[in-house]
Amino acid sequence: MAIWSPKSAHLCNQIPTLLIVGPQKTGTTALHSFLKLNPLFRTSSLSSQDFEEVQFFNDKHYYKGVDWYLSRFSNNSSKVDQRNVIFYLDKSATYFDDPKVPQRAGSLLPDAKIIISLINPADRAYSWYQHIKAHGDRIANEFTFDEIIDVNNLDRNRHRLRRRRLNEDPILSSPRLINATKVDQIEALHKRCLGPGYYSSHLSNWLKHYDPRQIIIIDGEWFKYNPVAVLNRLQLLLGVANPIDYSNLLAYNKFKGFYCERVEQMMKVNENELPKRPRSRSNRQIRTKCLGSGKGRRYEPMSQSARLWLNRHYLAHNRQLAGLLYEIGQPLPVWLDQSLNELPVSSSE
Ligand code: A3P
Repeated sequence: MAIWSPKSAHLCNQIPTLLIVGPQKTGTTALHSFLKLNPLFRTSSLSSQDFEEVQFFNDKHYYKGVDWYLSRFSNNSSKVDQRNVIFYLDKSATYFDDPKVPQRAGSLLPDAKIIISLINPADRAYSWYQHIKAHGDRIANEFTFDEIIDVNNLDRNRHRLRRRRLNEDPILSSPRLINATKVDQIEALHKRCLGPGYYSSHLSNWLKHYDPRQIIIIDGEWFKYNPVAVLNRLQLLLGVANPIDYSNLLAYNKFKGFYCERVEQMMKVNENELPKRPRSRSNRQIRTKCLGSGKGRRYEPMSQSARLWLNRHYLAHNRQLAGLLYEIGQPLPVWLDQSLNELPVSSSE
């Protein structure tokens, strides 16, 4: 339980009412940064200790206490009519699959709305692998995605490692020790890669601490190509007093392959060519400001064998998720509907 001190009282009017809990790699950064184009959404200001996200309810910061958490949401952003409800928003994509978080969040923020973005867990796993590979993870750079996900192949990896090591240094190497360590590391990475994709069991944890009406599921695949529709609907669901039309704020950038923020720029005009001309619309140029290179990366498509393996692996979880969403009256994401309609391939094939 986080420590609640009397000092927190003055921070009570900036308690988060919205949590975007993840999971990672499902479009949470885009959702967050687009949402906050509406000044009624206030986000956390980060210090140098925070890595993009506050992540208060995970172990790393939880014991710093409530003052620490609430002070991240200082009331400092643009002016809005104070009669409007302001939504303080904590986006921490590490919350969704951490079993401790729903109970902790439920105790401190029982009235919060919980936003969960879901994409096909197979694509999520692959995107996550590409992410940590790009961040220099040693195991991800040494082993292919197929090798990491297919736990039954770990034995083959073990043999491959032994051979590789013996070739390097046949006398001095102690393959058993090195191999065992490596295999442990691969197994650990395998779990981190696939674990967040067991959506039904993570969602069940949230439902132990939040009423289903507080949970908002976003179809993260649909959001990629239809962010305006998703954001406009989200404002409706949240009862935003002054909804904004996101179609005026976002534009598709074909080079990035994603929607980006529209920014209007005044074109530099040669004063001699346009003497004393008043500023007109024609001097303005629409540009886009996209998320950084770490979001919407370009990489090879997933191999067919990995796709099949993952489809099989997640099938039971996806079925459970569909049942759970049905029970709580949430629409099925399009990707889920499709994945359940694909015939499962038997393991003997
Ligand atoms: P990839 O980089 O694998 O394509 P998160 O922010 O939760 O880490 O999710 C990152 C993913 O957001 C990206 O994964 C990308 O597919 C997706 N995404 C959705 N909308 C996006 C946008 N407008 N710009 C960039 N990435 C977006």
